[in-house]
Amino acid sequence: MGLRIVVVDFGGQYTHLIARRVRELGVYSEIVEPESLREALEKGGVGGIILSGGPKAVLEAGAPTINLNYLSRLDIPILGICYGHQLMAKEFGGELARSSYREYGRMKVRVIHEDELFRGLPSSFWVWMSHWDTVIKPPEGWIATSISEKGIITSMSDGKRFYSTQFHPEVSHTEYGSKILENFLRKICKINPWWSPGDQVSRIIEEIRNTVGEDERVICAVSGGVDSVTTAVLVSKAVGERLYSIFIDTGLLRKNERENVENTLRNLGIKNLIVVDAAGRFLEKLKGVRDPEEKRKIIGEEFIRVFEEVSSKIENVRWLAQGTIYPDRVESGKASRHSALIKSHHNVGGLPEKMSLKILEPLRDFYKDEVRAIAKKLGIPREIWARHPFPGPGLAVRIIGEVNEEKLKICRDASAIIEEELMKSGVYDMVWQAFAVVGDDRWIGVMGDDRIEGYIVTIRIVESIDGMTADWHRIDYEIIDRISRRITNEVFKVTMVTYAVSSKPPSTIEPC
Ligand code: XMP
Repeated sequence: MGLRIVVVDFGGQYTHLIARRVRELGVYSEIVEPESLREALEKGGVGGIILSGGPKAVLEAGAPTINLNYLSRLDIPILGICYGHQLMAKEFGGELARSSYREYGRMKVRVIHEDELFRGLPSSFWVWMSHWDTVIKPPEGWIATSISEKGIITSMSDGKRFYSTQFHPEVSHTEYGSKILENFLRKICKINPWWSPGDQVSRIIEEIRNTVGEDERVICAVSGGVDSVTTAVLVSKAVGERLYSIFIDTGLLRKNERENVENTLRNLGIKNLIVVDAAGRFLEKLKGVRDPEEKRKIIGEEFIRVFEEVSSKIENVRWLAQGTIYPDRVESGKASRHSALIKSHHNVGGLPEKMSLKILEPLRDFYKDEVRAIAKKLGIPREIWARHPFPGPGLAVRIIGEVNEEKLKICRDASAIIEEELMKSGVYDMVWQAFAVVGDDRWIGVMGDDRIEGYIVTIRIVESIDGMTADWHRIDYEIIDRISRRITNEVFKVTMVTYAVSSKPPSTIEPC
């Protein structure tokens, strides 16, 4: 195992992005809270530390900090980014000032001293910044290595082990950002690429095998999403027929989803697959319910009930395998409005305590892209790992108002057309999510000689990095025309198609 990078989380919105970028450069990285840094270092194997950005200003009372003097006694290079840059200035005796204006967005910086961090970069390039405070004087013995067009110090170093940037090299708007991080890893920390998610497969399987007792059984709720399918395949490779995979058809799934998932899992050698048709139960519970959060609650509770009924019939179950991934575990003060619900769904509620199950989370240290790489390595088909994310409560959050059979069919059929057309035109892989939404508003249409009051289908196609923010996709007119015609021709009772042109914020991705 090579040396790893520790990213200290001061609550900045880009902390996960830093960790991901480092891993993309072939070095394993983990995120730690400032208070846990010492513990992480004591474990050994740390080749570099990155101090992340944060929402507070270092000069503010109660701003988080770490003991940099303690760190300066270790022989580990440190890169401070944004908040980390200011923290280094403050702790090592530099001078900071509150700016009279906020530097925000893209701006040009000029390199005034080419150190190892900027090796091979042009003398001037665009960066992404967002801050009020500024370092006006580097600590004794340090030098400013770049400045902005307004003359503000945008990076500095002690020329040996400490480097910092006011801008964000991890953000794609920063030109050469990846090169800067690469320089830090290779030239300063001296770590060559050694890690890739696909290479971890045999280690993960071995770990599961060593964790689960010889005669113990494992249950796993599979949804058809990449996380749960990958989890099930890894566990099945480790414990074989002692894994029981449970797929619950809530009736809120996408077109042909149940058949597809069932076939895929069987083809992947999953033996004890239990498919439960619970559509009737879910629809009955959702009758007359219009409130979005109420819908979510009902679905979550019913899911747990069904799962519990099925799993309690399997003997000697000791483990619950879950597809929890790294961002689900590490909070960075930016949980989405649904995170609590996503988690409770993930955890299948209080089931572990109730059935006294131990939790198995083989993907707990991986990001989504890395899970995809593992899925590929395991031979999981593209339809699973390349499919857009689908919310736990399914089509219920894409149906405004009451969920009923008629609206479900419209939502399902129209979404299938959208996905099909986007795949044909190559747009599918470029966007985060693409689906149909249906509510109760009506639009008069003509069908032959008859006038009918039909449904309005809204198409939602968004681009996003992580679902936290999103932009509506500027779709080609020809494609939207094809989709619209197909929906009104092929989906019963739809008389109008609209396109959602609001981003997140202010809107959310799902309508409810
Ligand atoms: P919003 O609608 O909040 O969605 O912009 C952000 C991302 O989260 C997904 N989402 C959910 N996922 N349970 C889930 O498992 C939910 O209740 C839920 N609501 C939204 C959504 O699909 C998008 O990717």
